Order: sequence, then C-alpha cells, then structure tokens
Amino acid sequence: MSINKVNPYNIEPHTAEIYDNIETQTHDVEFIINLLKKYGCKNVLEPFCGTGRILIPIAKNNFKVTGIDNSEMMINRLDSKIEDIPVEIRNNIKIIKGDVTNLDWPSNYDAVILGGNCFFELASLEEQESVLYKAYGAVNNNGYIFIDNDNIENRLPDSWCKLNVENKSYPTGKCQDGTELKGFSIPVFADKKNKIWKAKRRLEVYKDNKIVNQYEWEIQKHPIGYSEIIKMLKKLELKIVNIWAGTKNIQEYYEGATRATFWVQK
Ligand SMILES: C[S@@+](CC[C@H](N)C(=O)[O-])C[C@H]1O[C@@H](n2cnc3c(N)ncnc32)[C@H](O)[C@@H]1O
Repeated sequence: MSINKVNPYNIEPHTAEIYDNIETQTHDVEFIINLLKKYGCKNVLEPFCGTGRILIPIAKNNFKVTGIDNSEMMINRLDSKIEDIPVEIRNNIKIIKGDVTNLDWPSNYDAVILGGNCFFELASLEEQESVLYKAYGAVNNNGYIFIDNDNIENRLPDSWCKLNVENKSYPTGKCQDGTELKGFSIPVFADKKNKIWKAKRRLEVYKDNKIVNQYEWEIQKHPIGYSEIIKMLKKLELKIVNIWAGTKNIQEYYEGATRATFWVQK
C-alpha cells in the first residue's frame, strides 16, 4: 500500500479535465509508438494510464493495451474518450482500476510503459522499486520496459527546499462548465540527501467566482534519478537497450540531463 493515502487525481472530478488541458505534449507518445513498432511489440501494459494521453494513441496504432489506474475520476474521463472511438479500436483496450503498489498486475505483455514521469507519483524509492519489480513480472521474457522520468540526481534541488512557502500548483485552471480550480502546495519537509520531500496540498474550487469547496491533503515524493534507476535495472538483470535524455530533442543520455528515458529488455 502506498505511503500516500490520497490520490490527488481523485479529489475533485474537474481535475481530470485540467490534466488534459495542461498535458498536451505528444513527443513522448510518438517516441513510445515508434519503439513499440520497431521492436515488434503487440501487447502493451500501461500502469498510471490516467485519462489515456499515451494509452489511446497506442490503441489507435493497433496495439492491444491494458491500462491500470486507481483514480475513478481519471478513468471516468478515459472511459468517455474510449466510448467515442471506433469499436475495432475500443476492442484493443482493457482498463483495470487498482493501486499499482498493491495490485497483482496481469502478465504476458511484450512491453510495459512506465511513461509520463510516473515514478513521481510514488512516495519512496522502495515503492518505485516495487513498481519496476511488478513491471518485470508483467513482461514476457525478451519483452521490453520503457521508463521515462525527470532526472533528479544526488540531492533535492534548493528550489524544492524553501519550507512553509505556499506555491501555486496543479490542478489550476478553468473548465468548460465554468468551474475554476486553484491548487496550492506548501513544502513542509525536505531531506535533501535522501530526496524525500513532503508537502501540504490545498485545492480551492470556484463556481461563478465564489469558492464552493476546499480540500486539503498531504503528500510525500521521492524524485528519482538516473543512478537509482540504473541500480534497480542491474538488480533485475535487465538489459539496457538505450538511454536518452528525454523524448523531445532526442539525444543519448548525458550527465546533468533533466530527463532520463530508458528502453530495457528482460
Ligand atoms: C500524471 S498522471 C499520468 C497519466 C498518463 N500516464 C500520462 O502520461 O498522461 C498520473 C496518473 O497515475 C495515477 N496514479 C497515481 N498513483 C497511483 C497508484 N498508486 N496506483 C494507480 N494509479 C496511480 C493517477 O491517478 C494519475 O491518473
């Protein structure tokens, strides 16, 4: 069970729409689809699938894809998108609602996609390691795992460690029905060396410029770095096929890159 008891994507239904309005990038999705084609993968698992930013294009490219997510609100939005696509593509998709940290993952996949900075959803290196371990169990022998995260090496950046200062954060924005969300984050704990960061989070919901709801919760994060991922891959004896410095202006990984993207084989 995850240390974080609250999934911030499941606090307020409009969060899913705000997510889709903000996260519109497609370079990583195209990158993943090219890898799946190049390496002959047919059957794909995407834990942390959210509203389907990666999952739906995978299905539209004729791969069979299973998504896992534990936010009912994100899955509801994903479901309504799935209803709008042709039935032959819809048949490529299966969605499982569950917490990746305690669910028994399905298996026999050609590839598992740990994309979209998904390790940042998890509270500790142990949780991240357990997710990679489950990905290892879900993929066939000779199958592939894609891992793509912001690269925070060695220590928490100083900018993360200004405690008790409130910052605007996700989810912030306006929805089609006029509802406005304002998210805030106050860092309350920062262990620079072990990269454990905790924050109090707050969400205000406005309708017609009047506040109608307010939610508060706490989160813990462990931003992962290249070296930690390398260590986990070695433990599982996964073969590194390639490492890039992200999927935007594609280049091989270099020290100091702000993103680390792995394609590894079991
Ligand atoms: C940043 S979104 C990413 C969605 C999608 N992969 C993308 O890149 O657009 C993270 C998703 O992970 C889900 N999530 C976070 N923690 C989870 C957990 N422990 N188990 C299952 N899903 C989780 C959230 O509900 C959310 O939908």
